[in-house]
Amino acid sequence: MSTAAATGAAEPVLEVFPPGTRRDGDGVLVIGGCRVDELAAAHGTPVLIVDEPHLRATARRYRAALAAAWPDAQVSYASKAFAATAMYRLMAEEGVWVDVAGLGELEVALAAGVDPATILVHGNAKGDDLIARALEAGVAYVVIDNLNDVDRLERHATREQPVLIRLNPDVAPATHEAMSTGGHESKFGLPAALARQAIARVRDAERLTLAGVHVHIGSQINDLTPFAESVRALRALVDELGIADVAVYDLGGGLGVPHLRGERVPTVEEYVAALADAAREHLPPGARILIEPGRSLVASAGVSLYRVVTVKRAAATFVAVDGGMGDNLEVSLYGQPFEAVLAAPVAPGARPPERCDVVGQHCESGDRLVAAAELPAPVIGDLLAVPVTGAYTYPMSNNYNGALRPPVLFVGDGEHRAVIRRETLADLVRRDVR
Ligand SMILES: Cc1ncc(COP(=O)(O)O)c(C=O)c1O
Repeated sequence: MSTAAATGAAEPVLEVFPPGTRRDGDGVLVIGGCRVDELAAAHGTPVLIVDEPHLRATARRYRAALAAAWPDAQVSYASKAFAATAMYRLMAEEGVWVDVAGLGELEVALAAGVDPATILVHGNAKGDDLIARALEAGVAYVVIDNLNDVDRLERHATREQPVLIRLNPDVAPATHEAMSTGGHESKFGLPAALARQAIARVRDAERLTLAGVHVHIGSQINDLTPFAESVRALRALVDELGIADVAVYDLGGGLGVPHLRGERVPTVEEYVAALADAAREHLPPGARILIEPGRSLVASAGVSLYRVVTVKRAAATFVAVDGGMGDNLEVSLYGQPFEAVLAAPVAPGARPPERCDVVGQHCESGDRLVAAAELPAPVIGDLLAVPVTGAYTYPMSNNYNGALRPPVLFVGDGEHRAVIRRETLADLVRRDVR
């Protein structure tokens, strides 16, 4: 930088940061009204900064768009994207339901005070412990993904439990294969023959009620066509299975988010409109529609802040930071491209631009955060910011190489609060049996 800060010209990359992100007069990045150098001084690095007003605004956009598009509809947050007490509370405050995909997520949601009647339970390997706890808590729906789910539901139900059946629509969107869940080869969902058996068993079960059907075709999907196609396929399956009397149609999540400057991805409003158009064409007008966004609800609110530890000018300029695949697995799992910018300190005009590979601190060559980033020639101690890290980073963070999982700060209106503390070295041995 910081020609942009010096001249006051807009800096294109800031478009993928939370709205209102700017540079202070000295070029330091300001997110949610907070200078990142001050956040780093108070909480260390790496740190995940989350813009709380932006999170709430996105939740409200989703709710408003859906309410305008369909008479009976509900947004449910796919909490696997960022499962934490503060996030569950925020979603509950915003009138958003949550779905969980494991006993741990369910317990955290319940402990956060989420009303069980607003919780959906997913998973392709739900154990007895998860099913028993979900039934005891009185969740809204358990989503059946296999016949073993039916066995366990029958075994543990002591009162009436509504269920949805996850169907395999055989729709494979253009996304990384690790994020595609709707093709016929997917481990998720029931093909028609198995669904028929599951439905017959649910209908026969004393305490289970077939409330509806579910599809989810994948994640980081940037084209609306497969979503519409999945609604059409869902209706065709419902007709084939003879269950047109069900009321609930859960259309899943999966909308992508832009990670790079200039990247064009459908907006929340365009996505909801496309789903509603498809629903008007294919679903009964009285259907109750659920949608389950995860990534598109939370990703753009998050910014990861790192400090440069080493700079090696070899085959490439390797700028190594104090985080990496310990706090962001998205690059190694899905090849997700990110941007990196110099956040502080910034000496306008003093440094020539340099093409850098921003790499992590871990012992893996695949531990690279951003390839070929254009940065003002980096030096040790620089703060680098990587935007759009609010989804699928914190919940996948890990202790590889003894890394300490970073803290999470909610920022907004010039205030900040830690909602998750940094792990300590003592945490690393807490579970070790001596
Ligand atoms: C069943 C289900 N619903 C919703 C989602 C949310 O997807 P996304 O975060 O892409 O919106 C997922 C994530 O893969 C999922 O498995």
